[in-house]
Amino acid sequence: MTTAVVFGASGFAGHELVRLLAFHPSVDGVVAVSREHAGKSIHVVHPDSPANLHVIYDNVTFEQANEADIVFLAIPPEDAKAAAPQITTRLIDLSPAHRFDPAFTYGLPETNRDAIKNSKKVANPGCYATACILAALPLKNQFAAVAFDCKSGYSGGGKSKKYDHEQNVVPYGLQDHYQKPEIGKYVTRPYTFVPHVVDAFRGLLATVHVVGLDVSAFGSNGLQSAFDAFYRDEPLVNVQPEVPTMKTAAGNNGATIGGFAFDGQSAVFVSAIDNLLKGAASQAVQNMNRMMGWTETEGLI
Ligand SMILES: NC(=O)c1ccc[n+]([C@@H]2O[C@H](COP(=O)([O-])OP(=O)(O)OC[C@H]3O[C@@H](n4cnc5c(N)ncnc54)[C@H](OP(=O)(O)O)[C@@H]3O)[C@@H](O)[C@H]2O)c1
Repeated sequence: MTTAVVFGASGFAGHELVRLLAFHPSVDGVVAVSREHAGKSIHVVHPDSPANLHVIYDNVTFEQANEADIVFLAIPPEDAKAAAPQITTRLIDLSPAHRFDPAFTYGLPETNRDAIKNSKKVANPGCYATACILAALPLKNQFAAVAFDCKSGYSGGGKSKKYDHEQNVVPYGLQDHYQKPEIGKYVTRPYTFVPHVVDAFRGLLATVHVVGLDVSAFGSNGLQSAFDAFYRDEPLVNVQPEVPTMKTAAGNNGATIGGFAFDGQSAVFVSAIDNLLKGAASQAVQNMNRMMGWTETEGLI
């Protein structure tokens, strides 16, 4: 009997997580915590929920949640920071609060799945960081510089954040976006990162511009071959010749990297995820599967 508790279950990321956990073959029970909506059906708050998702929001304390096998925090970072010391069972924090905390394992399975398996506390990566890091890993820092030009659906800011996104594209955080240092854990060459909010609910694209690529490393077989080889055994990273879009990314539990334009020296390609899934909930389930010793893609493919 495996049970999970999701704090922030009424929010955008928490809602996706509850849906994935409720249909997960090895999870027997999910407590979906909402302080505001306790006692209400998930369909009242999220009318787009699948009809066969039967969840009533509950309100439990962090201490009570320790009776579960695993706790997820899909709440604002300052609240996650305060909550984490009270959690003694397995913990996955979807917020940015612990991504640089040495007591937590950074939960990007494509880079450190062995460490995740032995962890009790995992910090789920940021959505932009996931798309950018997955795009950068096969390049192995064999380039002069890279620019990550990112676009996200407005759900990326949570349900209470208001952007002027209608009929608009809104650049923000040009100098100091909090996810830029996460990318810097893996990209050791000079890089820029510019996020934009666009007029779509969900989905996230990183259009990646690389200059000064090492031709000896990538020239002969083309850039896509290097990505194909790097991600051949990764079940949740798809490499393709076609350019992925926000629409093709939405609803996908994994990442898609494609549209490779490469002249032997500089390159442009696109890394696409759903910010609420591989950028949050499906990545958290992937991490849970590792922590619990289950097949990594259980409940996801
Ligand atoms: N949205 C994304 O694409 C995304 C991607 C990656 C990571 N994240 C991270 O995931 C977390 C949640 O993001 P979100 O977009 O889902 O936010 P959201 O839509 O604003 O939802 C957050 C939820 O947290 C609950 N909450 C707020 N303060 C709380 C507290 N002190 N204790 C317990 N629950 C509290 C609220 O539910 P009640 O008031 O009903 O309890 C609220 O519904 C954030 O830390 C965010 O940075 C989000």
